[in-house]
Amino acid sequence: MGAVNGTEPLRVEIGGIDVEVPEGASLLAAVRAAGAELPALCSDDRLSPAGSCRTCLVRADGRIVAACVTPAAPGVRVETDTDDLRQLRRDTVELITSALPSRALTEDNPSELAQVCRSLGLGPETAQGTGGRGEDVSHPYVHLDRDLCIACGRCVRMCAEVQGTFALTLTGRGADTVVAPGTGGPWAESDCVACGGCVDTCPTGAISEPGPGRGLTSAHRPAATRTTCGYCGVGCSLDVVTSDGEVRAVLPARDGPVNQGHACVKGRFAHGYLTSPERLTRPLLRRDGRLEPVGWDEALGRVARGMRAAVAAGGADAVAAISSARATNEENYLVQKFLRVVIGTNNVDNCSRLCHSPSAAGLTASFGLSGGTDSFDDVERADCLLVVGANPVEAHPVVGARLMRRVLRGAKLVVADPRAVGLALHADVHLRPRPGTNVALFHGLAHVLLAEGLADEGFLRERVTGLPELTELLEDYPPDRVAAITEVPAADLIAAARLYGRALRPAIVYGLGVTEHLHGTDGVRSLANLAILRGAVGTDRGYGVNPLRGQNNVQGASDMGALPDLLPGYGKVTDPAARARVEAAWGVRVPERPGLRIPDMFAAARAGALRALWVIGEDVCATDPDANQVARALEACPLVVCNEVFLSETARRADVVLPVASWLEKDGTFVNFDRRFQRVRPAVSPPGEARSDFDVVRALADVMGVDLGCPTPADALAECARVTPVFAGLSHDRLDREGDVPWPCPDPDHPGEAKLYKERFATPDGRAHLTAAPYLPPGEQPDDDYPLVLVTGRRWAHYNSGSMTRRGGNLALDPIDFLDLHPDDALRYGVRDGAQLTVESRHGEARLVARVSEQTAPGQVFCSFHFPASGVNRLTSDHADTVTSCPEYKVTAVRVGAP
Ligand code: FES
Repeated sequence: MGAVNGTEPLRVEIGGIDVEVPEGASLLAAVRAAGAELPALCSDDRLSPAGSCRTCLVRADGRIVAACVTPAAPGVRVETDTDDLRQLRRDTVELITSALPSRALTEDNPSELAQVCRSLGLGPETAQGTGGRGEDVSHPYVHLDRDLCIACGRCVRMCAEVQGTFALTLTGRGADTVVAPGTGGPWAESDCVACGGCVDTCPTGAISEPGPGRGLTSAHRPAATRTTCGYCGVGCSLDVVTSDGEVRAVLPARDGPVNQGHACVKGRFAHGYLTSPERLTRPLLRRDGRLEPVGWDEALGRVARGMRAAVAAGGADAVAAISSARATNEENYLVQKFLRVVIGTNNVDNCSRLCHSPSAAGLTASFGLSGGTDSFDDVERADCLLVVGANPVEAHPVVGARLMRRVLRGAKLVVADPRAVGLALHADVHLRPRPGTNVALFHGLAHVLLAEGLADEGFLRERVTGLPELTELLEDYPPDRVAAITEVPAADLIAAARLYGRALRPAIVYGLGVTEHLHGTDGVRSLANLAILRGAVGTDRGYGVNPLRGQNNVQGASDMGALPDLLPGYGKVTDPAARARVEAAWGVRVPERPGLRIPDMFAAARAGALRALWVIGEDVCATDPDANQVARALEACPLVVCNEVFLSETARRADVVLPVASWLEKDGTFVNFDRRFQRVRPAVSPPGEARSDFDVVRALADVMGVDLGCPTPADALAECARVTPVFAGLSHDRLDREGDVPWPCPDPDHPGEAKLYKERFATPDGRAHLTAAPYLPPGEQPDDDYPLVLVTGRRWAHYNSGSMTRRGGNLALDPIDFLDLHPDDALRYGVRDGAQLTVESRHGEARLVARVSEQTAPGQVFCSFHFPASGVNRLTSDHADTVTSCPEYKVTAVRVGAP
């Protein structure tokens, strides 16, 4: 007997076989549960049924119906395989295909339609159309062959229902009906965001990916390698199809737990960088000021001598490493172990320092653990979403699409962001605080929650500390005063607080607009106050506080202890018990003194105290703030070693460059934004002599005379599990067997805790801690000399320093580094749309192109940091979060002028 999971199963009979399906399931789902084949050309499990093609005809209790739009009724008897039904379906498919040109049904055509025709005995001669409707090949990733379109509408529904973009429509009448961009004109100029959803669902190949991926979809493809996306922290499951050692296509996994058969322009298409002629394939060594190719032995020998010399001159703390949030957990585990075991220092950090270190500090202080509180599946059930300082539609597109779907289905949405980011267009209330005033904004919302009796008093009494102090503080944050600080109208503030406060199950999602501030940790904690006041964390009355992680494995890099004050699993280096756990496994003493944070490493290098710096997979000269000072630090440091895929701005300044594998060439695990451990598997080999970071770290330890153990990534995770109680139940074998598992996961039989704090909070007293931190102004303020506030962030087609996305079709989609500014400011400063600009701050200058847009508020400008040549991070300051040293990227005073 077949079965489909469901809460209220009902039994139906399909061709004499009893099956159970959930209430509300269609007959098509029941037929498939019974293992029967049925053509269904306008149907896709990811979409609402349309019932338009009539290829799925069955007989239900004697009546012929379209199975996809007919709900299964209890006890219904369904026939699928009678002569008359087969003939009916064959006639319908024949009618559909008769207008297509013969190439629609060639024998090697992998399309769903061609396969259906073959199964029905319809050959290429069935397709008798003459074509002539033409192609649209304007887009780098999505080509349209109008002659193959059967107007099933799957692409249109995919774009609207799954992606939430509404870029496509059906035009024409009758047999001339065909898909087209809704804006008219060529596809490349449409609203398409190149998620690939239309390509993936198209049953005929009318919409296809050009090149070697042509014709492949997640449902119809050869064998593939299942891995986890290496762009952003969403953690999409991807199936990578290869031939002759090269990637043909990267397809969204239909059963991917986070992406659910969806992807974005980066994960789906931006893999062209793999075969770029600019890939580093041999180690490089600086001689006479030039980087020259050498063998691995020579390169590693030079690194080992340099590190020994640094230790001899300045002690173990003269060596430091910046580990990588793009690398696997196992690689991060080995890097921090190398520093602590081989060198004897805690000088290891990762780029969470620059993005979510305030989340780690703030969430730990408020709740006890350094991660989001709830699974995203739960967040998606919220009836009110508070999205703060995040632009998921561009920076985390698959999450952005899921949030959009939830809103389109009726959830209330409050967006708090200075810019009119994508979700803001659909918000019930859009709060646009002046950059740097988040803490005042959150206190204003909290003030209204308390003033209007919207707090959960029982929860506050039983599970919370700090209420008297916060109540007293909030007296200073009535809506009018908050409006004066933030420039958010008091009425909007009140409306937003009421939406969040009156929701049955609200959820908070936030991004770097909360953390990258002088008081970023206070921002995280005062945002967490809202969930605590509402009793919406650790209960079934809400879905907590959830950071969207920027880099793919920024959660994992910190989880693995690539931090100067924390060991794997977040044991403090100052805690003798935590040190004893790893010392027992590693056989060495771990230093008690916390190491240097990234900004302190640069300062120490400039001061001559840091004499060897190993930068692994981070382009610090492009992405770290006050880039001129970073460059000076690298110049001052006697040994700079860089593991890189390309010759980045940082690698250009290194003494030794070690060529390494990228995410599609690696074995290991990542941890995504909702704390899932996910498997990463190599689909192709790295080019030339490039090696994984994992192999490089082990090899260098070998050269320095230390066996790091952990011969394979699986061994490294196994060792990590032995020394960290929160990861004790995790292993590669388990993840291969069961798929993703969230942490905490204390033993192999534990399913992992997707939702935290159901019984108690993980703070020492078991309670959630409210904070009463007052609002303090940002480090930079505009003045007469620098009258505009610059906010930096991401754009949809690019990722981080752009090293992967600027090499391939994504560059064609977004080729120019723009500075967005409001029309009022354009008028005030005499700036024309499209004009070359010089942007100056107190720290440096950059060159950008003006884009006049109302997305930014008057007095503010916005740009990305995806094009290192523009020098955006020469503008940003060295102001940093007072708790964690996370840079204040979101507030820099600038002026604009002609170049
Ligand atoms: Fe049922 Fe098209 S799949 S009508």
